[in-house]
Amino acid sequence: MPVTKKQLSGKRVVFGVGGSIAAYKAILLLRRLTDLGADVEVVMTTSACEFITPLTFQTLSGHPVHTNTFNPDDNMAHLRLAENADLILVSPATANLIGRFAQGMADDLLSTIILASHAPLLVVPAMDGGMWQHPLVQQNVKTLRETGVEILDPEFGSLASGHIGWGRFPSEEAIMSSIISLLTMPGDYHDEVVLITAGPTHEAIDPVRYIANRSSGKMGYALAQAAQKRGAQMVLVTGPTSLTPPPGIHTISVTTAEEMRDAVHKHFERATVVIMAAAVADYRPDQPAKTKLKKQGREQVSLALSPTPDILTSLSAQKSGQFMVGFAAETEHLIEEATRKLKAKGLDMIVANDVTKPGAGFGSDTNAAVVLDAHGLVADLPLMPKREMATKLLDLIRIRLNQQK
Ligand code: C5P
Repeated sequence: MPVTKKQLSGKRVVFGVGGSIAAYKAILLLRRLTDLGADVEVVMTTSACEFITPLTFQTLSGHPVHTNTFNPDDNMAHLRLAENADLILVSPATANLIGRFAQGMADDLLSTIILASHAPLLVVPAMDGGMWQHPLVQQNVKTLRETGVEILDPEFGSLASGHIGWGRFPSEEAIMSSIISLLTMPGDYHDEVVLITAGPTHEAIDPVRYIANRSSGKMGYALAQAAQKRGAQMVLVTGPTSLTPPPGIHTISVTTAEEMRDAVHKHFERATVVIMAAAVADYRPDQPAKTKLKKQGREQVSLALSPTPDILTSLSAQKSGQFMVGFAAETEHLIEEATRKLKAKGLDMIVANDVTKPGAGFGSDTNAAVVLDAHGLVADLPLMPKREMATKLLDLIRIRLNQQK
């Protein structure tokens, strides 16, 4: 009988197991992974060994289980595991593990492997709902997500503590589907140089005040990270945001619309895809004051504004095959406005969102949008996490790039 290749054949997974009662579920996941042909090496934390014995994982994985950084028989295990992994999975991940990863600690074998590896990292948290919602845990989760770590959200349901609430360990199906999508992620942007803008711009009124908007930069950063994972060579031009520059991405920080235009023009020629997700100020104060403006009693004051350069329009004039995508944040007449901007700015595609809709506005972690091109509506994307929307937008762009070839 011919041997059929399994879905995860040839894929190497480092499977980190933390000290939670959900450690027993790691056994079932390990079975699923090996059944699909993955080569899995298990790394257990000291507290994980309190819940399950390493022998169980050793038997199922067919490899010795790693529990100690200082193993005289395999003292380079951390580097070997880090370099060879196609994916590092940490499941279950305790609040303690998430905190240590977020701090960049390397005080045991699992955390050392994570720092030494460039492989995608998938973290499946397991803790009581109250702990998960603690601001410090949420801060650590945010830090990790901003550096490109995939973290599954706990689900709602009955908890090991007997309570009902958020904090339930994600279903095996949800975990497996994330693992499979990370391990089979298409490298379909390998040949592309993708230039993305993100965030707002700040236009000075005087040395202490500026005009800005509510853009957080999250959509642009999510697009940059998604394109990087699919093999793109990335340039991210970012206005002022509170986000951490994604590791491995060439990131240029700018403040004003003019600085953004200059940075974008500098990299435009070698780009094959340009995605302008930044909310660039349309106007800037005419003559920013050199010194702080004094309060004028109760009198009204007015500020003279001049238009900023429209970056997309100036790029379109120099276009030499780049696929150009713009964004349109609207509060009314979404389709009409987006269609007008698509034409006026010479775009190949536009992503329009109604920022008055709950969850689709600036600053949120989710977005809902319609995507249009010269032929009309391409896709109507319902409310979803910005990371997911980034993937869907890159899929749509990829289809069009393939058609152009
Ligand atoms: O005209 P409006 O600002 O609504 O257009 C939005 C799109 O145009 C976004 O993709 C934004 O990044 C881009 N834009 C630009 N230069 C500006 C203003 C906006 O390229 N000065």
